[in-house]
Amino acid sequence: MRGRVRVPGDKSISHRAVMLGALAVGETRVTGLLEGEDVMATAAAMQAMGASIDKVGEEWRIQGVGVGGLLQPAAALEMGNSGTSTRLLMGLVASHAITAAFTGDASLSRRPMGRVIEPLSRIGASFTPSPGGRLPLMMTGASVPVPIEYRLPVASAQVKSAVLLAGLNTAGITTVIEPVATRDHSERMLRGFGADLEVEEADDERVIRVRGEADLRPQAIEVPGDPSSAAFFIVAATLVEGSDLTIENVGLNPTRAGIVSVLREMGADIEELALRGVGGEPVADLRVRHSPLKGIEVDPAVAPSMIDEFPILFVAAALANGRTVTRGLDELRVKESDRLSVMAEALVAAGARVEETADGLIIDGTAGEPLSGTADNPIRTHLDHRIAMSMAIAGLVSRAGVEIDDTRPIATSFPAFTTLLEQATR
Ligand code: S3P
Repeated sequence: MRGRVRVPGDKSISHRAVMLGALAVGETRVTGLLEGEDVMATAAAMQAMGASIDKVGEEWRIQGVGVGGLLQPAAALEMGNSGTSTRLLMGLVASHAITAAFTGDASLSRRPMGRVIEPLSRIGASFTPSPGGRLPLMMTGASVPVPIEYRLPVASAQVKSAVLLAGLNTAGITTVIEPVATRDHSERMLRGFGADLEVEEADDERVIRVRGEADLRPQAIEVPGDPSSAAFFIVAATLVEGSDLTIENVGLNPTRAGIVSVLREMGADIEELALRGVGGEPVADLRVRHSPLKGIEVDPAVAPSMIDEFPILFVAAALANGRTVTRGLDELRVKESDRLSVMAEALVAAGARVEETADGLIIDGTAGEPLSGTADNPIRTHLDHRIAMSMAIAGLVSRAGVEIDDTRPIATSFPAFTTLLEQATR
């Protein structure tokens, strides 16, 4: 792994840029937007509810409808594989007097939506979900939404953001209390668009208040590179002997950068170059050189700041010297797939030593010895982009290579993944 690669725009920030741009009055311009399927699902939904969204050269231009101005969509909102689109858009619809149907693929249709249905019902929205609180579902937003105070029962930036977005068109102050900090892109960007939003840190809790009936002012936004996409290249360069790879423009918001500190604790050599601010977020280029890793106990408290990086961390642990223990990861079971059991099965199939527990994995690493790889038994990726990419990286450090059953889900978050991987391994 040598040279330089530039990872695409941050998925979380891209979704929010499209949504808030579509709610501002006037034209928002976005560069570096992630053009993955998930973000395009958000853009199509915002267009279906009245915004106009076009790409001119390298720039996305969004004409918003104004808070309160969303129109009733003429057809079901197709969410594809995207939990973020679904939950955040449900928040927006909840405080507009419109009816919308949400549909998704087989993976998304298995994921729990009760976590947003519950607070959004208190605001006054009504729902007809499929059994188990799942998609496909139909919802009608409140005509007179009620401001709520909501304590998050799960550490989830999606649930937090759904409530805050609903609060934008709700008279009064909507409050979310986070017992554990999760990614704060919604808060940063809402402020950037001029919303009246306050964050109070008290006794290990974050209390976030947003004043409703907001007027959002259009912005020029530059989306930083996605640390969750960079993570595949950080781990690859760490594991592959002889590597010296620079990954450009990586967002290092502290609520996202847990993977960097955990890999460093395991012995990774990650240097931050040209630290700067992009779009209200800290960003650096990361120079990563090969380094042997040692197994560690991963502190469950870092989980929210690297919740999407566990599949690739498990690959790193499979090659480390000694045992890596992870726990407190129940949330991984309700991602695009059950990432604990799917990664345990995939890594074992590729020759790693892995034990699955109720809320984590215990991995005994090979101390740098390559994995055997898969022969003619492709890894089942279960419509989960991060399983596909993680196991592709595992293939780089295996004797026989790793075959996966389906690369298509990679396009949901990182369409250029294979091209960049070929570029860096040439
Ligand atoms: C996201 C929040 C996380 C993360 C997802 C993106 C977001 O989900 O896994 O990929 O953009 O808010 P949860 O809120 O379910 O933890």
